[in-house]
Amino acid sequence: MKRRRIVVTGATSGIGRATARALADGSHDLILASRNAALLEKTAGDFRAADPKAEIRTFVVDLASFASIRNFSLQLHEEIDQIDVLFNCAGLFMDRRTSTVEGFETTIGVNHLGSFLLTRLLVDLLAKGDEPQIVNVCSKAALFASFRDRPDAFMRHPAGFRAYSASKLLQLLSTLRLSEELSGLGITVNAIHPGDAATGIWKGDSPMMRLANSLIVGRLASAEEASKAGLYILENEAMRKVSGGFFEREGIGIPLPARLLDRSLRDAIARRTDEAIAWPEQSPEDPETSP
Ligand SMILES: NC(=O)c1ccc[n+]([C@@H]2O[C@H](COP(=O)([O-])OP(=O)(O)OC[C@H]3O[C@@H](n4cnc5c(N)ncnc54)[C@H](OP(=O)(O)O)[C@@H]3O)[C@@H](O)[C@H]2O)c1
Repeated sequence: MKRRRIVVTGATSGIGRATARALADGSHDLILASRNAALLEKTAGDFRAADPKAEIRTFVVDLASFASIRNFSLQLHEEIDQIDVLFNCAGLFMDRRTSTVEGFETTIGVNHLGSFLLTRLLVDLLAKGDEPQIVNVCSKAALFASFRDRPDAFMRHPAGFRAYSASKLLQLLSTLRLSEELSGLGITVNAIHPGDAATGIWKGDSPMMRLANSLIVGRLASAEEASKAGLYILENEAMRKVSGGFFEREGIGIPLPARLLDRSLRDAIARRTDEAIAWPEQSPEDPETSP
């Protein structure tokens, strides 16, 4: 594969770490981003120890804070003038209700809004890239979700699986939207389902998470196995030209049910997302969003 500058979010754990590790052999410029500075440095140190040729820069970004995301984007713009790949892998599953800095339910705030805002802020750098790609690490959980178009859709959302699946639905339909919007810039945008894997995401002390940890997690694939779906999209020449798809391993397309292809659903998500990431220009306390 030709040399590329690749930004990987969520690079300190699980699938993001395994993906970055596979790419950290000196044949790419890697930019690793995550929220924990010490873990980021340890991750970069581990990769350099495994392969001294690895070229890695690290940046701290907390996707639960729009200010942190904007700061990361500013830092990147100061240091580099183009990006070839944005691999949006950071994500979490909160089994209790908490909020991001801006007041959005955390799972939706991080998995969807944070990643979407970051993507928007990096489009100009991607537009200068070579065969630029955005890959959103999504999940088939999206297929079980629904979206209620209401002003507080991202704020008062129940946590747990409902928020997780909703966040992945929002991410998936935003992938389709961006694929259309960015095609004129030559940027491809795809979503992947990496497969269920034993990673750090299975955290929590709710009964559901405890049950999952005792019965399911030990039988899941490794993060390395799960990294293959994304690596395939990055490394396969033909896949680099495809946009607007949802893929699992080896580029196998995942069909979307007709209800998710409804244009009005995608438009509603686009409108609510744009309102949300305009914060603080339009705060969650906007009159329309008050009870
Ligand atoms: N594992 C599965 O079965 C599975 C299945 C389908 C889809 N996925 C998706 O795969 C992606 C990676 O998850 P994983 O399973 O590899 O989980 P993981 O091991 O927990 O890794 C998640 C990564 O995201 C980072 N992250 C979490 N919150 C963040 C925030 N606020 N700001 C910046 N970075 C943040 C984590 O940083 P810390 O190390 O600081 O926590 C970590 O590096 C997620 O988008 C997930 O939805 C996973």
